Amino acid sequence: MKSRGASRLKGFYRMGLDARRSEIEKRLAPSTHARPFLGSAPPELIDTMVENAVGAFEMPLGIAVNFLVNGSDVLVPMAIEEPSVIAAASNAAKMARAGSGFQATSDPPLTVGQIEILNPQQTGAARIETAREEILALANTTQEALVALGGGARDLIVREHVGASDRLVVHLVVDCVDAMGANVVNTMAEAVSDRLATLSGGRIGLRIVTNLADQRLARATCAIPLHALARRGFKGSEVAKGIERAYAFAAADPYRAATHNKGIFNGIDAVLTATGNDWRAVEAGGHAYAARSGRYSPLSTWHIQDDGLFGTIALPLAVGIVGGASRSHPTARACLDLMGVETAAELACVVAATGLATNLAALAALSSEGIQQGHMRLHKRKPDLPTESP
Ligand code: MEV
Repeated sequence: MKSRGASRLKGFYRMGLDARRSEIEKRLAPSTHARPFLGSAPPELIDTMVENAVGAFEMPLGIAVNFLVNGSDVLVPMAIEEPSVIAAASNAAKMARAGSGFQATSDPPLTVGQIEILNPQQTGAARIETAREEILALANTTQEALVALGGGARDLIVREHVGASDRLVVHLVVDCVDAMGANVVNTMAEAVSDRLATLSGGRIGLRIVTNLADQRLARATCAIPLHALARRGFKGSEVAKGIERAYAFAAADPYRAATHNKGIFNGIDAVLTATGNDWRAVEAGGHAYAARSGRYSPLSTWHIQDDGLFGTIALPLAVGIVGGASRSHPTARACLDLMGVETAAELACVVAATGLATNLAALAALSSEGIQQGHMRLHKRKPDLPTESP
């Protein structure tokens, strides 16, 4: 990641909005679109992004501070309408910093397209397997630029009798480099489908990306010294025990797991929105992944070990830094620039860390003074500035 300076911005919350914006805009590359955080995307851009455009719906953009991810300071842009999430993320990042921040990794950027084949001949699957290299090469003819960047179709997986004896499903596995990849794999899936129909002797059904991007997981961990969890009248060890219990509750009960994961997506969706990424795709993949065992489960874990609280998160994170709104929208571009992320994998690492942070903040509050007390403090100060240091 390119360094954009320290993320530990003491007193940032006390500054006025204009001063905060100037402070952050100073860190952007000189080539950045003028005043990208002022909002109001140009009408001509909006008009090319969606149909029947009448304007832009703006939501607040804030910066979560204190993040240390893989040893680098990162300022995390978050676009979200819900009060307290950005303060909570900043606060949790400060707690994690008392350990060594967040350690995060991301799988290679493999996105999968599904091609459904109906009524294939009995030998259909075997004939497709035999033509594997031909199909991959055919898919790659549609994506010269991607192939030049080192990406392209990598694998074919043939699944027989998917939910019915007459349904064959081919998974086309594509290295999307720094793109989220839906457009790329959808194009490839359509391009190879006639050949697959001929080989299998069947009829083509759906051809579309799967959002259960389980070959593209991102993971983050943090190890927080217990003393760093202390808060208003609660010892760190008490808060840690509460967080461990809260995790056990979520692991035992899908009703609680859904809300536990909502706290994770508070952070994840806000960063995805700020960077022009498709948060619906990530939500869909995240929830499907959470249910992969047949029982809906929490996407993070929390355990006390010795003098520390250890948190982990893992989920599919098919995100991009090129293509779509990430490239076309000046604010999204500036947000990516501010983070200093140079690859989609680096963005996925920061996103996973932010999800773990908002989860930690929620569980810490729920296990101590209660979420409403914390929220209410922030609501009461509106329209003034926070009274609590994030
Ligand atoms: C509210 O936006 C999110 C929480 O409900 C998450 C949780 O309960 O863990 C506080």
